Amino acid sequence: MLIEEGSVQFNSEVHRMQQLVGDETSGGWESCWEQGLTPWDLGHPTPIILHLHQTGALPKGRALVPGCGSGYDVVAMACSERYVVGLDFSHTANEKAVELSSSSPNSSYFTFLKEDFFTWQPPELFDLIFDYTYVSQPGNMLVSSVRWVV
Ligand SMILES: C[S@@+](CC[C@H](N)C(=O)[O-])C[C@H]1O[C@@H](n2cnc3c(N)ncnc32)[C@H](O)[C@@H]1O
Repeated sequence: MLIEEGSVQFNSEVHRMQQLVGDETSGGWESCWEQGLTPWDLGHPTPIILHLHQTGALPKGRALVPGCGSGYDVVAMACSERYVVGLDFSHTANEKAVELSSSSPNSSYFTFLKEDFFTWQPPELFDLIFDYTYVSQPGNMLVSSVRWVV
């Protein structure tokens, strides 16, 4: 169903998600995950990440995916030359990512942490930070990311 808001049309699921995320008192993101309200979730890795990984174009070393959700991109990028940390502060998202990836053959090259991006202190810097649709506070995100990258 489409909802009119000004001149913009929103899918009702997206609209509901935006309401939840915008409401600080409800633990918005966690509520979205608990209700299965995850319209951003592709159900597979971001195509450009697969392409860059397969063509050897991504930096090696340590990679971070903040707000990783179900973790598809984390698993897709992880390999013997690249260790990937997937970060999400939602308990439900973290559980889902761990469960989905539990039998991945490359499981020794990634980990999922339940942490808040804005307060977490990484023990080491990263060579690559990849974000896809985690744009809730882009200004803060950029500042924090620059601080952590080599
Ligand atoms: C729009 S979803 C994108 C998920 C994933 N990147 C994807 O494309 O499927 C944003 C994710 O960021 C997480 N998130 C939001 N704020 C966060 C924060 N401050 N620290 C860690 N994770 C956060 C939410 O729980 C949610 O899973």
